[in-house]
Amino acid sequence: MSNQGVTNSTIFIRKEYQDMKITTKVWDKRFRKEGKVFEQPHEDMPGIISLLKEKGARTILDLGSGSGRHLVPLARNGFFVFGLDNSPEGTRIAKNWLNHEGLSAEFHVQEMTDPLPFPDNFFDAVLSVQVIHHARPTAIKKIVKEVARVLNKNGFVFISVPKEKTQAKKFMEIEPCTFVPLDGPEKGLPHYYFTPEKLKECFSGFSITDIHLDSTGHYCVSGFKM
Ligand SMILES: C[S@@+](CC[C@H](N)C(=O)[O-])C[C@H]1O[C@@H](n2cnc3c(N)ncnc32)[C@H](O)[C@@H]1O
Repeated sequence: MSNQGVTNSTIFIRKEYQDMKITTKVWDKRFRKEGKVFEQPHEDMPGIISLLKEKGARTILDLGSGSGRHLVPLARNGFFVFGLDNSPEGTRIAKNWLNHEGLSAEFHVQEMTDPLPFPDNFFDAVLSVQVIHHARPTAIKKIVKEVARVLNKNGFVFISVPKEKTQAKKFMEIEPCTFVPLDGPEKGLPHYYFTPEKLKECFSGFSITDIHLDSTGHYCVSGFKM
């Protein structure tokens, strides 16, 4: 039998994929059920805030800002903060949290895979913690291009993405390195798994200063727009 083109197993996976609901709104449900989900900022945030102050940064985008655990400390430190997320509920929680602390931010509820609603060279930094892997590889490339567009020259970028598939017992591979959990809290939401090499390739338009694994099993990439 010819092995050219699509294999049987690929057809089977594709059919199953068509039958199941792939969704981008899993987190909205999760925020409605569990509230903030995350409260403590990422362990690298104090260092990032010091670096941004040292560099004189003012405008910061938190891409996939969720319920606001990074917007709060950033706004508290005097930065002009912008949150973008496709979850209305996460955004509502974040807004209330900021209000409660007497802080403010500009919020945008939209898909990160759509063009970002900001002019070129607008931000001094773009931070995105555990977010951009929630897309397919072609969409991730677009997101990274948009991040580069909205960042100032020498603007800072910090991105974290998971190393391992830990959120479910069963996954379905829908394209290379891209898995959809079939159970667990992120059921139906695509996850792309980077290697350090893939991260370097994806952020090749940036001058990468560091890639490390954090204590929660996420690769963290830092760098500057060239
Ligand atoms: C693991 S949570 C991280 C939230 C936040 N960055 C934090 O560290 O607390 C993933 C976030 O990505 C958002 N998200 C997932 N897919 C998205 C998409 N296609 N467009 C915009 N936001 C998305 C979710 O709504 C959720 O807030």
